[in-house]
Amino acid sequence: MTLSKFDGIELPASADFHVHLRDGDMMELVVPTIRQGGVNTVYVMPNLVPPITTVEHALSYKTRLQSLEPNVTYLMSLYLHPSITPETIISAKAAGIVGVKSYPAGVTTNSDSGVLDYASFYPVFAEMEKQDMILNLHGECPSHGDITVMSAEERFLPTLLDLHKRFPKLRIVVEHLSTAAAVETVLKCGPTVVGTITAHHLSLIVDNALGDPFCFCKPVAKLVEDRNALLKAATSGNKKFFFGSDSAPHPRGAKRGGDKIAAGVFTQPYATQYVLDAFETGVESGVLREEDVTREVLENFLGRFGREFYGDVARQRGEGKGQVIRLSKGKGKVAEIVQSEKTDVVPFRKGEVTWELEFIS
Ligand code: DOR
Ligand code: ZN
Repeated sequence: MTLSKFDGIELPASADFHVHLRDGDMMELVVPTIRQGGVNTVYVMPNLVPPITTVEHALSYKTRLQSLEPNVTYLMSLYLHPSITPETIISAKAAGIVGVKSYPAGVTTNSDSGVLDYASFYPVFAEMEKQDMILNLHGECPSHGDITVMSAEERFLPTLLDLHKRFPKLRIVVEHLSTAAAVETVLKCGPTVVGTITAHHLSLIVDNALGDPFCFCKPVAKLVEDRNALLKAATSGNKKFFFGSDSAPHPRGAKRGGDKIAAGVFTQPYATQYVLDAFETGVESGVLREEDVTREVLENFLGRFGREFYGDVARQRGEGKGQVIRLSKGKGKVAEIVQSEKTDVVPFRKGEVTWELEFIS
């Protein structure tokens, strides 16, 4: 059986460099699932309502997250917004905030206060470069004229290249890569530019997203050749590519009822497990060779490369709780729904078989 060589494997806990943990009822439901996915370090997205644009908001949010699950390291970010100035960047750095996330206006969930014009933020980017803070890019152009959800990422790539040229030392993460073109562009850039890859973009193509609201996200899953390029990048051993789940919970009703489908795939409780499943399907379909998916590939993609890029703030903590996970093949099952008395969310691939995961130390 494919990848049965990993049955019972023990790995360092994963780091997930792109999570949406929300606030309020959904936060209370989702934060306890982080460790179920084998993860002990998360980079937290700031697109709350209202978005996190101040140091105080980021720190109070971090306190709420920590009180729900103290055995996770939370790396915090700010939402790029006209109210953010170079002075904000200096105080954010001093407060331990790690990066700033840029959402193009209107492309996805809670992006109404996003960026319309990158040039107006050049002084902020210059200060971030100086302070060695990370810029996280949602790399899509808003649909407009001849730009559609299918071309939105590719059409953004010239902006990435331009920002990289202007700020060559600014560390940039292009989030949730979804195209072969984006993989190639990240490869073309210098070592300060890297990309995260989600478990669902390693699994899905556009047909899945069109037929199933629980597979709809931004950027939308693209073509077979794009998914295959992502599988190859994730297993290439190139440290420019590492895991960020973009787990994005929405209440079940926001995915089914209503007049507009919310974008986002919820993967948090099975984050690590889904990546193994995606690699396995990649081997079964002949895109990957079984010998290319090694223990080292798993350790690198699921944690080491991201931790190295993010640096000291994200290093695996020494001895202690939550350092090592064990995976057992085919012994886990994705829940039909994750729910509390106040809210609910449907996980990706509900009801399907996956790996069982436990923390062993
Ligand atoms: O599908 C998505 N959902 N993409 C994003 O960029 C945001 C996310 C969310 O917050 O729901
Ligand atoms: Zn996201």
